[in-house]
Amino acid sequence: MSNLLQNKKGIIFGALDERSIAWKVAEKVHEQGGEFILSNAPVAMRMGKINELAEKCGTTVIPADATSMEDLGKLFDAATERFGKLDFVLHSIGMSPNVRKDKSYTDLNHDWFLKTLDISGLSFHKVLQTAYNKDAMNDWGSILALSYIAAQEAYPFYGDMADAKAVLESIARSFGYHFGVKNKVRVNTISQSPTVTAAGSGISGFDKFFDFADDMSPLGNADADSCADYCVAMFSDLTRYVTMQNLFHDGGYSTTGISSKVIDKWS
Ligand SMILES: NC(=O)c1ccc[n+]([C@@H]2O[C@H](COP(=O)([O-])OP(=O)(O)OC[C@H]3O[C@@H](n4cnc5c(N)ncnc54)[C@H](O)[C@@H]3O)[C@@H](O)[C@H]2O)c1
Repeated sequence: MSNLLQNKKGIIFGALDERSIAWKVAEKVHEQGGEFILSNAPVAMRMGKINELAEKCGTTVIPADATSMEDLGKLFDAATERFGKLDFVLHSIGMSPNVRKDKSYTDLNHDWFLKTLDISGLSFHKVLQTAYNKDAMNDWGSILALSYIAAQEAYPFYGDMADAKAVLESIARSFGYHFGVKNKVRVNTISQSPTVTAAGSGISGFDKFFDFADDMSPLGNADADSCADYCVAMFSDLTRYVTMQNLFHDGGYSTTGISSKVIDKWS
């Protein structure tokens, strides 16, 4: 099982440091023979360690603000110039100024709310539209974004990110239809367990809801490494007819009503 992605080329957005889900995906895609360009927001070039990852995976970094159609256009042009058409894209991008500044959901700054929606939701549409209009994807390509269950259920600490994730998942369905008809490209979101990363631990009370989810899930929380395995599977030819889905990767959390571990804590 070491050549699942042989000859497949793509773009991976969102690796900041070694905890990032996108970082693990890049390592596993590389292990499986895939080639890619790494991208992140220009500001992340200074904060993170993405160049270390690029060296390890024998690739380059092209900065792009995922809310800028101009940046995305240049990135896709550079990627297709290097590789020809692409087989996979990972959107692993999320940020909420309201969550960062600890604004409660009942006291949001609405300019920041728009930023949250743009960075964490609409940017997926911008990525998809760029790839679609540039005819940048090979037939049977696979495009993924990462989501969280707060898109479906109330998670008070997740603030306006919940709304952005609902938009993100809807975009996967709506665009997935058009991309499927155009050239069999599949578009999905993976709804991941709470995971210890820069974005994850920025949410207030994260440690507690990480432990709660772990206790609720029959298999325990899925970690970033296993999320990367799932992304590899979704980029591979073994999942060619899966599209327009929100795929829970959460150890069974989303369909568990109550667990004995949680009950025991209340006894
Ligand atoms: N960590 C969790 O608990 C968890 C759970 C479910 C889903 N997710 C999702 O997984 C994805 C990756 O997050 P992570 O946990 O690996 O954290 P992370 O902080 O490592 O990754 C988030 C990335 O988004 C990038 N980003 C922010 N603004 C951007 C912009 N304008 N343009 C381009 N990139 C931008 C950041 O630089 C960073 O690399 C996010 O969509 C997140 O919501 C995370």
